[in-house]
Amino acid sequence: MKKSVFAAAVVASLVASNIAKAEPQAEVLHWWTSGGEAKSVAVLQKEFADNGGTWTDMPVAGGGGDAAMTALRARVLSGNAPTAVQLKGPAIAEWYEEGVLADISDVAEAQGWADVLPASIAGHMKCEGTWCAAPVNVHRIDWIWANADILKANDIAMPTTWAEFNTAADTLMAAGIIPLAHGGQAWQDATVFEAVALGLGGAEFFQSAFVDLDMDTLKSDKMVEVFDQMRKLRGYVDGNFSGRDWNLATAMVMNGEAAFQIMGDWAKGEFLAAGKVPGEDFLCVSTPGDGFLYSVDSFAMFNVDGDDKQSGQKLLAELIVGKSFQKVFNLNKGSIPARTDVALDEFDSCAHTSAADMASSNKEGSLLPSYAHGMALRGAQAGAITDVVTAHFNSDMSSADAVQMLADAIANSM
Ligand code: GAL
Repeated sequence: MKKSVFAAAVVASLVASNIAKAEPQAEVLHWWTSGGEAKSVAVLQKEFADNGGTWTDMPVAGGGGDAAMTALRARVLSGNAPTAVQLKGPAIAEWYEEGVLADISDVAEAQGWADVLPASIAGHMKCEGTWCAAPVNVHRIDWIWANADILKANDIAMPTTWAEFNTAADTLMAAGIIPLAHGGQAWQDATVFEAVALGLGGAEFFQSAFVDLDMDTLKSDKMVEVFDQMRKLRGYVDGNFSGRDWNLATAMVMNGEAAFQIMGDWAKGEFLAAGKVPGEDFLCVSTPGDGFLYSVDSFAMFNVDGDDKQSGQKLLAELIVGKSFQKVFNLNKGSIPARTDVALDEFDSCAHTSAADMASSNKEGSLLPSYAHGMALRGAQAGAITDVVTAHFNSDMSSADAVQMLADAIANSM
C-alpha cells in the first residue's frame, strides 16, 4: 500500500472509532411548550437519554413556530446552528438550498424509511433525492373541538355544515355562552381560515388557491364567501381573544367557558394532558366539508462539527422514526404516527377517525397540505396570505376588499 493511502486509511479508521465512542449530544430547537406538547417532547428526551445521549433543550415558545423560526435564523446566521431543529414542509427545502442541512440518508436507508412511510410524507423529507428530515407524526388541522356538557345542555349536535355551525353559535350566544374559543394570533386566524376554505370550496378549490396560487381562484366569488364566514366567526369570539395562546383557548373549552375551538389535533394533546376523555368530556369532529388538511412535524439536522453532535443527530433520527417513539409520542401529541405500521389499538376515537379519513381522502384526491402550518407554500407566499387573513379578521374590511388584497399580496410575493 502506498504511504499516503495507508495514512488515509488509518485516519479513516480512527475517525470511525471516535464516532463509535463519541457520546451523542444534541441541542434541539422546538416550539413544544404547552402542557400536551411538553409531555410529548419529553418522550423523545427520555429515549435519547436512555440511549446514552445528552439533550440540551432549546424551546422557543409560540404556537405554530413563528418565534422558533426567527430564533433559528439568528443562530444559523451567527454560524452556530442547533444540532436538530423542528422544521417542516417547504421550509426544509429552503434551508437545504442554503447548504446548511446534514444528509441523514444513511440512517434512513438502514432503517428502511421508504418502506414504512407513505410516499406523500417521504416526499416532504427528501431534498434533491437525499433524506434531509425525519417525520414524527401527522397532525390533522381541520377539526372542531367541543365541550360535551355545553352541547348537551343546549341541545346542540356537532355541526356538519357551516350553516349549522352558525346556527349553533347563535343559540349559544343567546344563552350567554362564548361560542368560539379563539386566540387572536395570525397563525390561529390562518388555521381557522384554511379549514373554512376547504369546507366551503372543496379540495380542488383549496389546491388551486393555496397550493397552485391560481389568481382566478384567489379572486373568486367562493373566496368572498370564505371571508364572509370568517366575518361571522369573528362575531362568535369573546372580547379578550386578541393575542391569546391557542392552549388557553383550548382551556376555555375544557373549563366550560366556551363551546367550540377550531384547531389542529395538538388541541387533543392538551385535553388529554389535563385528563379529559374524548367522547365524554370533549368531542371532536372534522370541520364541515370533505377533505383532510395535514401537517407533518419533522426534525432536520443542521451541519455541525464534532463527532458527539454528529452521532447525536444519527441517534435522534433513528429514534424519531422508531416504532416505539412513534406510538408513545403520538398518544400524547394528539396526532397519528407517520409510520404506517404502528398499531392504533391504544389510540382514541379521534385518532381512528383521523387515520380513516386520511386514507379515504388520499384515495379521493382530497388529502391536502396545510398552508397555515407551512406544508403547502414557501414562507413568503404563506406569510402574504396570512397577513391578509389576519388584517381582515381584525378590522371591518369587506370580503371583496380582502379578496382583492389577497390577489395583490400574492402577485407581489412572486
Ligand atoms: C403546529 C405544529 C404542532 C403544534 C402547533 C402548536 O404548527 O405542527 O406540532 O405544536 O403548531 O404549537
